[in-house]
Order: sequence, then C-alpha cells, then structure tokens
Amino acid sequence: MKKIFVVNGPNLDMLGKREPQIYGKTTLADIKKICEEAAKAKGYELVFSQYNGEGEIIDELHRAYTDAAAVVLNAGAYTHYSYAIADAVKMLPCPTVELHISNVFARESFRHESVLSPYCTALIAGLGANGYAHAVTAAIELIRD
Ligand code: DQA
Repeated sequence: MKKIFVVNGPNLDMLGKREPQIYGKTTLADIKKICEEAAKAKGYELVFSQYNGEGEIIDELHRAYTDAAAVVLNAGAYTHYSYAIADAVKMLPCPTVELHISNVFARESFRHESVLSPYCTALIAGLGANGYAHAVTAAIELIRD
C-alpha cells in the first residue's frame, strides 16, 4: 500500500499539555488517529513520527524520499530556521504539505518566516489539530501517478 508520511518536530510530543490556549487540548496520539482515518479513507497507509532532534527529522525525510507518496510536515520551530531540513524537503520527489496547528502569521514575528515553504507544495496553518486531517487529504490529492 502507498504510504503517507506525517512528520512532526520538536515539542509536538507535548500537545495536550503545551500552551492549550494556542495548540488546543488534542494530544499527538489523538492526532495520529485523525491522520490514520484520513489516510485510510483514501486507501493509503500512514507512517506517523515525531522527533525532537533536527537530525532525526532529516533521517525520516530521507526514508520518505524512497517510501512516501506524499509528506505532511510540521517541523515546529525548525520551520523558521533549519536550512538542513529545508534541503531535505527540497530533494523530496513527492508532494509535501507544510502544516502548522496555529496561525503562525498571527503570532510573534519570528514565526512569520518559514525556510521550508519555498520547497513545499502547499501550506496549511491555523486550523488546529483538525488541520492534520485536511493536510493528509490535500497531500493525497496532490499525488500525481
Ligand atoms: C507550530 C508553530 C511553530 O512556530 C512552533 O514553534 C511549533 C508549532 C504549529 O504547529 O503551530 O512548535 O509549528
């Protein structure tokens, strides 16, 4: 079965406890279920991960290079400054959707820049945890056979 990779970056393991006024009360385990349902509904297998380290995210994107039909990436704060993750995204041959739970443009100015966006196919932000379902569905719709 074709695979959709959903890759999460630092501090997203703390969802549910972390600043609930910004990120809501949904946990990462709940989000995994949301993504699994969205992928399964379209006949895709989900590969879901979360890493606090930059190198581990890059390793996962390298696995996605060979295995993924599409990628959803919430790189957390690395979004705003990691050229190493940007390079890993740039080489991906499949559609990649950048995702943020919060509306990063309505927050601190350092969150307004994404070094990943130029290499992503699409960007979803501000829809809360349910944004993951939209992102998985959109990523699948972007797949060209
Ligand atoms: C985030 C936004 C980032 O600015 C922040 O560092 C995160 C989460 C989001 O999902 O809204 O860790 O990517």
